[in-house]
Amino acid sequence: MPSDMQKTFYPRPLTSVKFDTAISGRIYVNGELIEGAIGIVDGKIAAIKKRISGARDYGDSIILPGRVDPHVHFRDPGYTQKEDFLTGTLSAAFGGVTCILDMPNTEPFLYRYPALEEKEYIASRKAVVDYGLITGMKNRILDEKALKRSPALKIFMAPTTGGIVNELDDLALQYLLNLMKDYGKPVIFHAEDMKFISNEKTGNLIEHLRNRPNMAEESAVRRLISSGKPLHMAHITSTEAVELLKNRTYGQTSEVTPHHLFLTVDSDFENEAYGRVNPPLRKKRDRDALWDALRDGRIDMISSDHAPHTMEEKEEFETAPSGIPGVETALPLILVAVKKGLLEFKRAVEVLIENPAKRFCPRKGSIEVGKDADLLVIDMKKVRRIDAEYLHSKAGWTPFEGMDAIFPESVYLRGKRIIKNGNFEGEKGLGENLWTKHPAGHNGHSEPEREG
Ligand code: NCD
Ligand code: ZN
Ligand code: ZN
Repeated sequence: MPSDMQKTFYPRPLTSVKFDTAISGRIYVNGELIEGAIGIVDGKIAAIKKRISGARDYGDSIILPGRVDPHVHFRDPGYTQKEDFLTGTLSAAFGGVTCILDMPNTEPFLYRYPALEEKEYIASRKAVVDYGLITGMKNRILDEKALKRSPALKIFMAPTTGGIVNELDDLALQYLLNLMKDYGKPVIFHAEDMKFISNEKTGNLIEHLRNRPNMAEESAVRRLISSGKPLHMAHITSTEAVELLKNRTYGQTSEVTPHHLFLTVDSDFENEAYGRVNPPLRKKRDRDALWDALRDGRIDMISSDHAPHTMEEKEEFETAPSGIPGVETALPLILVAVKKGLLEFKRAVEVLIENPAKRFCPRKGSIEVGKDADLLVIDMKKVRRIDAEYLHSKAGWTPFEGMDAIFPESVYLRGKRIIKNGNFEGEKGLGENLWTKHPAGHNGHSEPEREG
């Protein structure tokens, strides 16, 4: 072969690689903020360097990976007066969330393939961030085809919005967890024990709490931990439950919501029904225990449990459905908590971004070559008051009204800027279902890493 031929086929040196996009600022890499630049090719992070010529420079702003919110209810199909996949994902994007996992308590309840197919179609046309559609179980029916295209299985141990309850004795629980291990899918539990829940009329938050006492959560969490199997416990809320989390075994993870971290039964509400949620808001000692557990690693991550209902539905406490919207405000509220010294910055990134991604969607969650180029540009000096009027959920209200928050200025989804200086510039349908593109078994799920 003549030597000039050889030259032609010689791989191009890395310095001449052209990036589709490059941005620079104070980037969060390996647990610290460094001045640097990120080069993006085909929606993936292709290089992290000291500088890249032509990079869009964000100066002093920090650049974090996009957040994965593992627990939202986008109400589509069936309850689109409360939310739909467009408004839900828009709300997510503005809150720095580039991937959401949607819960199955829509209408029809999602547990069989035809319902999943319908939701997949709806979401594909509306989503502006990436997503996965979680499957549920009804009448003990598990649909294998649906599960294969889902990021996880959701089990409701107690009645909540949607009215589905999965009663499982210890034997059935073991059977289910073994089966799901074979499928390689995590199982997420709404952990309250039916036995301790009552259906008395409730006119206020104290009474709602009385109906769903700490003991209900304690009992369910004890059972789940004693199973000894990998599983995920949604929205943990009580002192007793976080105490039990000390005993969790390999692969058992848990989440906490911003409303349980920032609100209690005694908080001031413009309308008390805005605080009606399952599991309920509890006492200050519970809230403090949640912060401790979040700091020391017993609680692994933050989910919003974004559960919008209309203002009209929330008018009367007694008839108000339970649920609080929050996908847009979770990261912004926690960033302010960091400023106030409630949580270390590094731990905030772990619980908001890294841990939910590791557990449910490892292609996201860190600024690392090969990961999705989902990036948030944040100016920690720009603190704003939360005002429901400027949020994007159809709910139109928030229990966090008036609280300080730091929203991302710009947001990138797989290399494409979807929010620029607080304005949306993405498009409907840009979001992808990350669990349908690949053959079964390559859904991006991996066993969680043990913490602490
Ligand atoms: C959720 C809803 O409205 O879908 N409500 C809630 O109070 N959290 C259901 C749930 O997560 O339990
Ligand atoms: Zn729940
Ligand atoms: Zn929920």
